[in-house]
Amino acid sequence: MAILAKTPPMGWNSWNTFGNNINEELVKSIADAFIQRGLKDAGYEYIVIDDCWSEKKRDNNGRLVPDKNKFPNGIKALTDYIHSKGLKFGIYSCVGTHTCAGFPGSFEHEFVDAVTFAEWGVDYLKYDYCYKPRNVAGEDLYKRMALALRNCGRNIILSACNWGNDGVQKWIRESGCHLYRSTGDISDNWKSIEGIMLSQLNNACFSGIDCWNDMDMLVVGMSGTGENEHVLSTGCNESEYKTHFSVWAMMNSPLMIGCDIRNMSEQTAAILTNKDIIALNQDIEGRAPYCIRQWNNLDNVFSLIKPLSGDASTTGCDYAVAMVNISDVKAEMSLQFFDIGLPYSSGLGLEFYDCWKHEVIGFFTERASIDIEPHECRVFRCKVKKV
Ligand code: GLA
Repeated sequence: MAILAKTPPMGWNSWNTFGNNINEELVKSIADAFIQRGLKDAGYEYIVIDDCWSEKKRDNNGRLVPDKNKFPNGIKALTDYIHSKGLKFGIYSCVGTHTCAGFPGSFEHEFVDAVTFAEWGVDYLKYDYCYKPRNVAGEDLYKRMALALRNCGRNIILSACNWGNDGVQKWIRESGCHLYRSTGDISDNWKSIEGIMLSQLNNACFSGIDCWNDMDMLVVGMSGTGENEHVLSTGCNESEYKTHFSVWAMMNSPLMIGCDIRNMSEQTAAILTNKDIIALNQDIEGRAPYCIRQWNNLDNVFSLIKPLSGDASTTGCDYAVAMVNISDVKAEMSLQFFDIGLPYSSGLGLEFYDCWKHEVIGFFTERASIDIEPHECRVFRCKVKKV
């Protein structure tokens, strides 16, 4: 059986910025922007349309029908266009009778829908949790769609979205889903980002190869804009968006962009295409980070430590280290290397390469003490070296 999600999927999803206002021209222009703005080169692959793409009723054969005004040429014409750019296409449905916005869901239509999606050339299915029959376990409903997709004749990634309900971490890997949403919906402000981040620190261990913990689509670059009132909010400053991107990357979350990439600023493009940060997320070993809190500032400052596959020509082991300060004042993070298995007596230290400044900042033994601005996240790729 093929592994479809060796590393966390990367792409774009229509929901955060466009909500209900999606159509063929928009999606095609997003595909063009993937190429023009360097997103494809940076590793982004999937273009996913979320809720609100279909007619309100199935056809006489029980098949889903694309909205005739939004997608006048159907979905197949669109996937052909996207595939011609070397990209992949994702669509959306729901375990229940209806989607969250009230369009037809796939409950009891799983097998015909999977075949329809395969015929259309779909590569990815986001599968939501609204209007779920109360007496059927979510696990069974995700298994049902996973089974249908496995038998539809095409490789289609299954992206569960049950907002962390029903202890999803415990059963989702066995259900055959490749990623799963673990929180409620994000909105475009710091409090939302902070809340999602803190809620998932203890769940990092459930995110791994072929079944990734999805902390929701990114709001990087939305800056208080967009047509979706569910997500629209005050926006964040540049440093907060960098923290958001850094933590999602470190936590092995899929990186699904949510802003209008056609009009994104150079600053936003630089965040989303930061190859040093993306490399941590896409590390082939897919290991989860653990969290070490600042000893005298436990609630506000912490480090995420993610072992990487590293460089076999040296010691064969790198660490990604992200230091986060969620408080409103500047703070120190002192990482004691003893706590990550490198006591002074080992004769080893760490060379810190700054993944946002793109330069080595120094070689440290015993500990590294770094100042972090409010809401900032410093990210380092650390090489183990002899003292
Ligand atoms: C739910 C999901 C969102 C989005 C909407 C669409 O709220 O969590 O990501 O898909 O439904 O209606």
